[in-house]
Amino acid sequence: MEKLNDIIDPQSVPQRNLYTGVKMPGIGMGTFGSDRFTAEEVANAVKGAAEVGFRLFDCASVYGNEHLIGEVFKEIMETGIKREELFITSKVWNDKHDDVIESCKKTLKDLQLDYLDVYFVHWPFPNFHGKGVSIDSRDPNAKPYIHENYMKTWRQMEQLVEMGLVKHIGTSNMTIPKLKLVLRDAKIKPAINEMELHPCFQQPELFDYLKENEIVPIGFCPIGSPTRPDRDKTENDFVDIEDPIVVKIAKAHGVHPAVICVKWAVQRGQSPIPFSIYRNEYASNLKAAVTDLLTDEEMKEMEKVDKNCRLIKGDVFLWKAGQTWEALWDVDGEITPA
Ligand SMILES: NC(=O)c1ccc[n+]([C@@H]2O[C@H](COP(=O)([O-])OP(=O)(O)OC[C@H]3O[C@@H](n4cnc5c(N)ncnc54)[C@H](OP(=O)(O)O)[C@@H]3O)[C@@H](O)[C@H]2O)c1
Repeated sequence: MEKLNDIIDPQSVPQRNLYTGVKMPGIGMGTFGSDRFTAEEVANAVKGAAEVGFRLFDCASVYGNEHLIGEVFKEIMETGIKREELFITSKVWNDKHDDVIESCKKTLKDLQLDYLDVYFVHWPFPNFHGKGVSIDSRDPNAKPYIHENYMKTWRQMEQLVEMGLVKHIGTSNMTIPKLKLVLRDAKIKPAINEMELHPCFQQPELFDYLKENEIVPIGFCPIGSPTRPDRDKTENDFVDIEDPIVVKIAKAHGVHPAVICVKWAVQRGQSPIPFSIYRNEYASNLKAAVTDLLTDEEMKEMEKVDKNCRLIKGDVFLWKAGQTWEALWDVDGEITPA
């Protein structure tokens, strides 16, 4: 068999400092198959990603593949990689906000782990997909963000830390107004916020707010999620890997534009979690974090790529008919009234 020279020493990968003093890799591997790739393909990619040197893996119960990824984690650890060398995240789905502990225990069982490094509240909106309501359509029983209810969920998250089942807890798909309230009321504050981040959607205000509050950003859809589910595609979405600046810098470095998106993310200070089932792609993504970095000038140019283009708009979480997705994201700087 041809010997692949695509292994990166995990110790050479930039690390992020969490407020607890724990370090987290500056890049990880996503595991959402976007309804296009099977659970087997994703699990196989996790195995390959660990081989090439990835140590951070971003999981979630709703991705429907944790039971197979768990088999892979077991195999990875049988090769001599220790649990503490891995950084594994998962998330409580929107129908389990009242049942966080059981949900986390199920994930731990599926992933064959004793603890998670981070457990996230996947979305700040509960959504109890009723009978006949698919995950792709608006739930007539959807609720807006109600801080009191979120804190009830957060208390269960805090309990998980106290029980030793998770090392850190985190938020995802949040806004500054919502985070302000959580930081005010949390006993254990979020260590990480997982959020959409790619060159065409840089979210500079939220990014800076997190830094000021010692919360590390994990960036999802770092390549602009070209294979995202059709429900998340709209006509006016920008395509990061076709952006003229990204393409120009990619040509100068002799790499695919996707690799430039990853380099930019790592150098900016978020931890991107690019997904791919192809070894050449995920190996290039990890290599991007450690070699042939962007110059200061190129980093400056990448700032100009921002189009404030949110891809994962979350329409299914809207709680009233006739609303537009902006209502979910507190675009006026205040929590949108119920
Ligand atoms: N917290 C949340 O709510 C949330 C939401 C969304 C996603 N996520 C997480 O974020 C992860 C990443 O997001 P994502 O998968 O939507 O988007 P992404 O990583 O931006 O895009 C993935 C796609 O990019 C292409 N790609 C990857 N590496 C490449 C390379 N080196 N060269 C060329 N093309 C490359 C692949 O497409 P081809 O197959 O066409 O090559 C792949 O399917 C998910 O897997 C999940 O773990 C979290």
